[in-house]
Amino acid sequence: MGPETFIKAIPMACAVIGEDERIRALNVAGEALFGSAVVGRHFAAVLRQPALLDRIEGALASGRPAQSRYVYTGAARERTFEVAITPMESEPGVILAFDDVTALAEAGEMRSEFVANVSHELRTPLTAISGFVETLRGPARDDAAARDQFLTIMESETRRMHRLVDDLLSLARVEDTERLRPSGEQDIAGLATSAAQSLNGHAAEHGVALHLEGMDEPVFAPADPDQIMQVFTNLIENAIKYGGAGGSVTVSLAQVAHDPRLRGPGVIVAVTDTGEGIDERHLGRLTERFYRVDTHRSRGKGGTGLGLAIVKHIVNRHRGRLRIESTLGEGSRFSVALPTA
Ligand SMILES: Nc1ncnc2c1ncn2[C@@H]1O[C@H](COP(=O)(O)OP(=O)(O)OP(=O)(O)O)[C@@H](O)[C@H]1O
Ligand SMILES: [Mg+2]
Repeated sequence: MGPETFIKAIPMACAVIGEDERIRALNVAGEALFGSAVVGRHFAAVLRQPALLDRIEGALASGRPAQSRYVYTGAARERTFEVAITPMESEPGVILAFDDVTALAEAGEMRSEFVANVSHELRTPLTAISGFVETLRGPARDDAAARDQFLTIMESETRRMHRLVDDLLSLARVEDTERLRPSGEQDIAGLATSAAQSLNGHAAEHGVALHLEGMDEPVFAPADPDQIMQVFTNLIENAIKYGGAGGSVTVSLAQVAHDPRLRGPGVIVAVTDTGEGIDERHLGRLTERFYRVDTHRSRGKGGTGLGLAIVKHIVNRHRGRLRIESTLGEGSRFSVALPTA
């Protein structure tokens, strides 16, 4: 069996380079990457990345296998390949096999970005606390009023770090269970009602009127009760926080016989506020970890920017859908659709 036939059986992109350093054959995935027109051309004119070219030349000259990276920029999304360069035994020349490692490379990037974000979020309160400790040891040593004020700030910074750690842990837990479908039917109306009731005091403090609609009868759906409580609590808390004093927040429940997004029957819980609304350009990114429209203001309200990321994961785990609609100056509506069957 010739190398041309052999590479046809391999799903990853492959190319055969002959002794004359020209591309002799490509398989289907290889054609998708480079186009069939490159057959017959010199490999250096097609691949054009110095490190990879060096390795191919080396393998052709020495007859020893080699490994290199290739970054493909021809598509809308850049793709990264690990390239195995293997000399053929039957004849001179090499076979290139392109292993798409884009997803791995991206996961690595996301992880470092995540660590950078967490460190940054922790560093801010830590810097504040150590600054105040220093002041309390030195200049403010005998100033009782200043001491009280600083201790209050230190307490709230400590609370912020606690919240951050709690949120990180619940994010990790949710990610862990994401593949596991929740079992056990729960009363969604009851859960939404308790979430709203537990935030009544919070709403009153903010001068926000909290209304419930359509919660009179129980509505059952497969759900993890703690997680669904967490979803409603996050959404209602946001609506109160960002909905603005003097406004109102409505939590409403509706049952639908067929929801196109769920492809079946479902229950929809919507949290609507009359606040400032969210600019359209932010809508798609709100569920990213640490994403905040106004970082400074959200921090001022004790927010970590993880709430909606957690909501999104929980809703995914329940095979549900989260929809965010908003009009600047009029308010926002966050709705969660959960399948009931
Ligand atoms: N109802 C809302 N109205 C206006 N903006 C909102 C609303 N809900 C969320 N946002 C915006 O989305 C951002 C992300 O929300 P998220 O719940 O993830 O974080 P947070 O509330 O800042 O922090 P946390 O939930 O961790 O306490 C918020 O910082 C805010 O800018
Ligand atoms: Mg929040």
